[in-house]
Amino acid sequence: MLDISNVTRRFGSTTAVKSVDLTIPAGQMVGVIGASGAGKSTLLRMINRLVVPSEGSILFNDTKVSSLSGQALRNWQRDCAMIFQQFNLVPRLDVLTNVLLGRLNHRSTVSSVLNLFTREERAMAIAALERLDISRTALQRAGTLSGGQQQRVAIARALMQEPKVILADEPIASLDPRNAQVVMQSLRDINQSDGITVITNLHTLDTARTYCERIIGMAAGEVVFDGGPDDLTEAAARRIYGADGLEEAFSESVTFTSFAAGKPKVRPTAPPEIAIAIAGA
Ligand SMILES: Nc1ncnc2c1ncn2[C@@H]1O[C@H](COP(=O)(O)OP(=O)(O)O)[C@@H](O)[C@H]1O
Ligand SMILES: [Mg+2]
Repeated sequence: MLDISNVTRRFGSTTAVKSVDLTIPAGQMVGVIGASGAGKSTLLRMINRLVVPSEGSILFNDTKVSSLSGQALRNWQRDCAMIFQQFNLVPRLDVLTNVLLGRLNHRSTVSSVLNLFTREERAMAIAALERLDISRTALQRAGTLSGGQQQRVAIARALMQEPKVILADEPIASLDPRNAQVVMQSLRDINQSDGITVITNLHTLDTARTYCERIIGMAAGEVVFDGGPDDLTEAAARRIYGADGLEEAFSESVTFTSFAAGKPKVRPTAPPEIAIAIAGA
């Protein structure tokens, strides 16, 4: 369980995240939504300690994440894999090596430097690539792959960390709708079959509603919504995005992702009241 308690982060005079309290049980699939600048990335980065909170505490089970240092901090960053909008692969290295790099923080520096990946680790990397349906690209340079394939490589690399939590910061923002759907479905499969907690920032509301069981809405650094997909009313969407941001929240590409995913328990398009609000905007 992840326990975020009264967490604030300031950058100079900007308060990026303001007094956030959240409890996220193990195995939950959480979408964090909000307009640009709402504080989504800062929140995620504090969980993985790329950014240190100015105030408050973050606990994972009995570990106080917000005050870790040294090896204990590296262990946490191994348990808590991060996926980025721009994939962060090494483009000149082949796909297999990129995936094996996810093992680095399981290893001593010496064996890493000597490039001594074991046969077992290589098999594990191939299995991860197979799971993401891209094992045929294993020997290609990562930089030659499409964006959607690169993001799947990044997910395979994250799996090599054997993480307890996966944090994804707008993982589909650079992808076309078809690849966005594949990547979101992969994250959801990993969440459901491995029980790994997934917390993903998403720019738009429909994707969160389609793939996430819990949605956290942020505006100006604060949590202004926390509920299930069906609780996301027009009033809630207005609180998250502001009256002027609603149209952006329902961009066409994302509507397409949720349509294609065809989850029966989730509405495939904006509920009529929100569609009317957009039409009237
Ligand atoms: N490293 C930083 N230095 C200064 N300001 C920052 C930094 N990171 C984020 N901010 C500011 O904090 C606010 C929240 O940013 P961010 O967490 O990136 O929001 P989001 O991911 O929702 O777009 C913004 O006003 C942003 O400019
Ligand atoms: Mg961001």
